[in-house]
Amino acid sequence: MAVTGAGREPVGPVTSESERDDVTDIERVGVVGCGQMGAGIAEVCARAGLDVKVAETTGEALEIGRTRLYNSLSKAAERGKISEEERDATQARLSFTTDLGEFSDRDLVIEAVVENEQVKTEIFQVLDQVVTRQDAILASNTSSIPLVKLAVATSRPDQVIGIHFFNPAPVQKLVELIPALTTSEGTISRAQSLVEKILGKHAIRAQDRSGFVVNALLIPYLLSAIRMFESGMASREDIDNGMELGCAHPMGPLKLSDLIGLDTVSSVAYSMYEEYKEPLYAAPPLLQRMVDAGRLGRKSGSGFYTYA
Ligand SMILES: NC(=O)c1ccc[n+]([C@@H]2O[C@H](COP(=O)([O-])OP(=O)(O)OC[C@H]3O[C@@H](n4cnc5c(N)ncnc54)[C@H](O)[C@@H]3O)[C@@H](O)[C@H]2O)c1
Repeated sequence: MAVTGAGREPVGPVTSESERDDVTDIERVGVVGCGQMGAGIAEVCARAGLDVKVAETTGEALEIGRTRLYNSLSKAAERGKISEEERDATQARLSFTTDLGEFSDRDLVIEAVVENEQVKTEIFQVLDQVVTRQDAILASNTSSIPLVKLAVATSRPDQVIGIHFFNPAPVQKLVELIPALTTSEGTISRAQSLVEKILGKHAIRAQDRSGFVVNALLIPYLLSAIRMFESGMASREDIDNGMELGCAHPMGPLKLSDLIGLDTVSSVAYSMYEEYKEPLYAAPPLLQRMVDAGRLGRKSGSGFYTYA
């Protein structure tokens, strides 16, 4: 298997049609974490016909994640996006566990736990021990943590790659593919085939730099909106209405921050600031205070707005 050498980080448009004809030999997928992204990624994979096993930390977290996932499938059926038969067949392809040891037979594992380098590194070390298939892909949905750090925590750094979905994963078309310096061309093309041919998403490729493409552009904008609100320059409604009604954004920046999760926005900003030391990536004090207060946005019931 060819390994991408230093200075040869693959960027630019996705590969040509002929290069896309790699075997998509992935049938059994593991998803670690069943929060908003893990549940969405599991749904996307199961709806695409893959056998999906989802892991969480505790039985309680697993139950919350399972309910979130099943509710999303039921809504898709109610809205006519899938039939009731498809909903039932999708549920039948999903299984749940609190034991990562049950991931031994997986062809691909996508990690989608909290944006914390230490937590993710430990999970990659465990996956490296338990996943038996020699060429299994170990992927992370991280928004900002260097993929190479997760790759070198395993004995198979050529098989680690970032597969970064967007929120909500069943709806958003985009997936960023982020090879580490160590990722092999074979891993990249198999991941790309899966994302495009099986999951039906649009893949773009980014270098392993904190924030990749989308968050490198989005996070400074969100932080600017939070600074504007913190300074009292405008109300939260006027800031959001400004971008919704003036720039046709479907959601203003404070609502979007609440949707992403303020802990995630803060963690991604932290990683990006660590990487570039640019003031535009520095989280405003208000953001950190809100995270400290447990006001994480929609998922905790309050952030810049309150939620039922
Ligand atoms: N929220 C977004 O809009 C968004 C978008 C793209 C990518 N991401 C990335 O996806 C990842 C998850 O984000 P999220 O928004 O789903 O967070 P979340 O807080 O909704 O969910 C995280 C889940 O991980 C679980 N978890 C924590 N440690 C675990 C472990 N050791 N094993 C198994 N499960 C564990 C938690 O119980 C929780 O359910 C992060 O890396 C984030 O940067 C988030």
